[in-house]
Amino acid sequence: MQTSWQREDVTKHYLEQVRGGIPFGAEQAQIMLQVVNHFVKSPELIIDLGCGNGFLAEILLRTYKEAKAICIDHSEPMIDQAKENLTAYADRCALYVEDFSHSILSFAKSDSVDCIVSGYAIHHLPHEEKKTLYKDIYKLLKRGGIFINIEHTASATPSIEKLHDELFIDHLTAYNKGNREQIAAEYYNRPDKADNILERVDIQVNWLRDIGFQHADCYFKWMELAVLGGVK
Ligand SMILES: C[S@@+](CC[C@H](N)C(=O)[O-])C[C@H]1O[C@@H](n2cnc3c(N)ncnc32)[C@H](O)[C@@H]1O
Repeated sequence: MQTSWQREDVTKHYLEQVRGGIPFGAEQAQIMLQVVNHFVKSPELIIDLGCGNGFLAEILLRTYKEAKAICIDHSEPMIDQAKENLTAYADRCALYVEDFSHSILSFAKSDSVDCIVSGYAIHHLPHEEKKTLYKDIYKLLKRGGIFINIEHTASATPSIEKLHDELFIDHLTAYNKGNREQIAAEYYNRPDKADNILERVDIQVNWLRDIGFQHADCYFKWMELAVLGGVK
């Protein structure tokens, strides 16, 4: 599947002007680590789906010195950035330019992965494909293994969506020390907006429960940004 993320300019804009300005981005990563740590003390095999520049994989590889990571992204410019960002972990990290809307089952054996994470990536799939991917994630995880998805989810109503957008723009304006009007215009007209297929977090948590995930929940949420997941 093609998305705007395969474009160099979209990659550059996200990494330089958006990633660091995501509201509570550091807290989301911290919650990811806390939940992983609670269920899997020492993960050996990690997968990062839609890894971008390796933002989440880097945190996990830094924390878990014995872990190996498989990082998958269908954007060549993003994988180039991940190569640079993860140089220190090159011996523990395999990077693939691949599309996770095709099956991910070829990346590891069933019941072999300790931890699968994803950051702001799965919402680009249509809902049925999201569910299929969640089922494949479940297959790859070891019993006791954990899935954490840091994700852009749908608001419950258009009015809350509007509030989310305005507050997000406030955060981006503060982060970039920029002009709010210009940042709002860029935000509302961004090329990757058309690739978003958002679903509410409560609905997605129920999908995880239906698949068989234990402890499935939304562990943290700010407006449309959620940290959800579950344990096999
Ligand atoms: C918003 S970026 C997030 C990157 C990184 N995970 C982070 O937390 O900063 C979304 C990433 O998902 C990747 N992506 C979107 N759809 C994909 C697909 N079908 N297969 C593989 N990667 C995909 C994009 O190329 C992009 O790098």
